[in-house]
Amino acid sequence: MERYQSGDEAAKQLPVSYDEWRARAKEVLAAAPFGYVHGAAGAGDTKRDNVDAFQKYRIRPRICCDISKRDLGITLFNAKLPAPILLAPIGVNTILHPQGELGPAKAAAKLGVPYVLSNVSSIPLEQIAEAMGNSTRWFQLYPPKYRELTKSFLQRAEKAGFSAIVVTVDSTLLGWRETDLRNAYLPFLIGHGMGNYFTDPVFCSQLKQPPHENLEEAVKLALEEGNNTCFTWQEVDFIRQQTKLPLLIKGITHPDDAIMALEHGIDGLIVSNHGGRQLDGAVATLDVLPSICEAVNGKVPVLMDSGIRRGADILKAIALGASAVLVGRPYAYALAVAGESGVEEVIRQLVAETEFQLAISGRHSIQDLDASLLVKVK
Ligand code: FNR
Repeated sequence: MERYQSGDEAAKQLPVSYDEWRARAKEVLAAAPFGYVHGAAGAGDTKRDNVDAFQKYRIRPRICCDISKRDLGITLFNAKLPAPILLAPIGVNTILHPQGELGPAKAAAKLGVPYVLSNVSSIPLEQIAEAMGNSTRWFQLYPPKYRELTKSFLQRAEKAGFSAIVVTVDSTLLGWRETDLRNAYLPFLIGHGMGNYFTDPVFCSQLKQPPHENLEEAVKLALEEGNNTCFTWQEVDFIRQQTKLPLLIKGITHPDDAIMALEHGIDGLIVSNHGGRQLDGAVATLDVLPSICEAVNGKVPVLMDSGIRRGADILKAIALGASAVLVGRPYAYALAVAGESGVEEVIRQLVAETEFQLAISGRHSIQDLDASLLVKVK
């Protein structure tokens, strides 16, 4: 790894493990923003289960295999990626670091890892696009109630070179998050995460006064748009009609919903429970991944997130059928600790650990992994 070779003093001061990144983030952040990232819905059972689910599987290595050449590369929607890893959409990054979403965007662009920009980013999508050049970026949409606003977000994303749209469907109502309730903290209320709304002509046309003159009215409208409790497959069809870009649905945990998604012309699925932040007691994503892959039967890529912390987790998810994984909290903590270079370091660590794990398990190509890599022990 580069940090050994270069003896880089700055890199040496950065954490290596997930637990360390989180501990350092806790030191540098105030309680409320740290709690916003660390917290989960209700008792936190799902957040815990997401991580524990990986312990049900153990890797069974093969021996005497030539592992001198290793290949983590995959192709996703015609883009060649260096590893099966994407940065998950995480909003309101200015609560973590002054760079906001520019931190992960630049780190991802530097390493060729796709960045999924959140709809509720503090930095507008056009600025992110400019900072990323030609690097792969996807746009995540919290489907607004107002269809003209949906159209506007999609058009802006297309124009700014985002190459796929991710519609998050598990959050049309915000989860019961006790840490945030205790801290009386919702970052949107103080203007974080509004970068795309406040720069949108359709959104602003719905306001009596511009956001800088009446923040309260503007935030209230944005939150109302996001609380889209009437969202159904009809709205999915509407979104499908608005864009020719690959369209993914994020938040699927039921094979029947996966089949419905295919029937509605979706190009990819993200098995996710929002990192346990939405429905407490919901099933862990790794536990449902095989049944969803079986239902989809290779027709579209199936990605997954929630609980990915290290290389072994990535190997297990890929072996159970995921095309790629999204990483959430690990990079959010790294952003808080060291901005863009923190995110860069965390991605490098995940990629390097995954490569080590792949090789030491006796495999040389991530694309060739299947369930024979694993033994279910629990
Ligand atoms: C999220 N997540 C999320 N998802 C999404 O579709 N849009 C968003 O704006 C956000 N915002 C967000 C903020 C914070 C602080 C967190 C921790 C998560 C969910 C995210 O994309 C992903 O599904 C989870 O983070 C994955 O779980 P892990 O890796 O954090 O366990």
